[in-house]
Amino acid sequence: MRRALLILAISSAVGCGNDATTAGSAGGGGSSSTQNSTGTGGQAGLVCDATGISKGPWALHVDETSARVRWEACAPGSEGAIRITPEEGGDEQIVDSVESEFELTKTAYPLGDAPPDWAGTYYMHQASLSGLNPGTCYNYVLVADAERKGRFCTARPSGEPFTFMAIGDTNPGLGVTDDILASALPMNPDFTIHGGDIQYYSSFLETWASWFPIMQPMLSQGAFSPAIGNHEIENDEELSEYALRFFGEAGFDGGETYHQVHSGGVWFFTVNTEEPISQGSPQAIWLQQGLEAASKRSDYRFSVVYFHRPLLTCGDVADDPAAFDFLGPVFEDTNVLFVLQAHMHGYERFELGSGPTYLTSGGGGGVLSDVDLAIDREYCDSRVASGAFYHAIVFEVDSAEVRGTVIDHEGTVQDTFSRGLAPLP
Ligand SMILES: [Fe+2]
Repeated sequence: MRRALLILAISSAVGCGNDATTAGSAGGGGSSSTQNSTGTGGQAGLVCDATGISKGPWALHVDETSARVRWEACAPGSEGAIRITPEEGGDEQIVDSVESEFELTKTAYPLGDAPPDWAGTYYMHQASLSGLNPGTCYNYVLVADAERKGRFCTARPSGEPFTFMAIGDTNPGLGVTDDILASALPMNPDFTIHGGDIQYYSSFLETWASWFPIMQPMLSQGAFSPAIGNHEIENDEELSEYALRFFGEAGFDGGETYHQVHSGGVWFFTVNTEEPISQGSPQAIWLQQGLEAASKRSDYRFSVVYFHRPLLTCGDVADDPAAFDFLGPVFEDTNVLFVLQAHMHGYERFELGSGPTYLTSGGGGGVLSDVDLAIDREYCDSRVASGAFYHAIVFEVDSAEVRGTVIDHEGTVQDTFSRGLAPLP
C-alpha cells in the first residue's frame, strides 16, 4: 500500500519538484520571524526563526585533537559561536564560527506537509576546534540557541573500546527513521557512518528542511561521516548545494566525495560509487594506497570500507562483480573486516570464509526492497542472514572482538555477529 501511495504521489508531482516558480506564502510568518526572499521570483516563504538558525548543528572532520561543528543560519550575523565542555566535566570554552554566505536559486517543493527547501540566502557556520584531548567526548551548544546542541568524541587511542553506528538509505519523511534512531542511539555510538542516499527528494515527501529536525538526534549523538548515494544527485546541483555544503570534508584525505576517518586504531574509508571505483580509477588507487598505508601503521587494528552501491547483493539492485574481483583481495590483504554497502533497502550479511564480512545496510527508512530477487547469484549461498526490515547496525569494538547488533525500528535485535581481533601489541 505504501509503495502504491508513493507511485501515486510521484505521478502527481511531475513538474513541480524543483522549479523556481513563485512559492506564495506557504509557511506563513510571525512576529518573531524574518522572511528571506530570493530576488528571482519573489519567493518569500522562508520563515527564519528569531534565533536565525535553520539547520543543525552537527560535527564532522574529527581526529584525535580537532573537530568541526557546523550549522546553517537563515539570517546573517547570528551569534556565531559554540560553548564546548568535556562530557566528563571540565572547563567550558567558547569557540567562534566562520560564516559563509550561500545563495540557493531554486525552491524544491515536496508534497504533503514537509517544508520546501526555499531559495534564498543561507549562512553556513563552521566552528573549527583544535587542541582537544584524544579519546574524549565533548558536549557543545550554540550560543545563539541553547536548544541546538550535540556531542562528539575525538579519535580514541588504538585499542581503546568504542562504539559506532552504521545506517543507510535514510528517508525520514516516510516515518520510520526516527524510530530506528530511537532504538539504536541509546547504545551511545561515538559517531555514525552512513552508506548514502541520505535524503530523498524523489519520495516527494521530504526536503532537506524536513530531514534535519528528524535526523537531529543522530547528528547530536556524534560526528557524521556519510557516503554519497544516487539520491544525493537527484536534482541539478543537489550534491554541491546540499549534501556537500552540509557534509563535505566530513573526513580526511581523498577527494570531494571520498575520504577516511579513524578511531581506536580502526580506519574507515568511503568511496563514491556514483563515480568509477574500477581498477585504475582515482578512487580505487586512493583506496588501495590508503588501506595499505593504514595497515602498515603500528597502531592499526582493522579497516571498515563503506559505500553506497553494493559489490554483492541478492536483492533487487545490481551487484558489481568486477569491482569485487579487484577489491576483494585488496580488502583481504589489508585486514578489512567489514564492507558496508547500502542502496538495496534491506539487510544482508555475507560470510565468504575469508576476508571481510560484507553487510548490506540499506534499511534506514526508504521503501523496503525485495531482498531475494537475485537469490540465484552464485555467491548467495554465502549470505548467512538477510531480511526486508528497517534497521541500523551498532558496532562495539573492544580489545578482543567487534560485535555487531542489527536493531530494527521497534527495538528488536534482528541479527548479531562478531569478528575476533588480534591481541594488541
Ligand atoms: Fe541508492
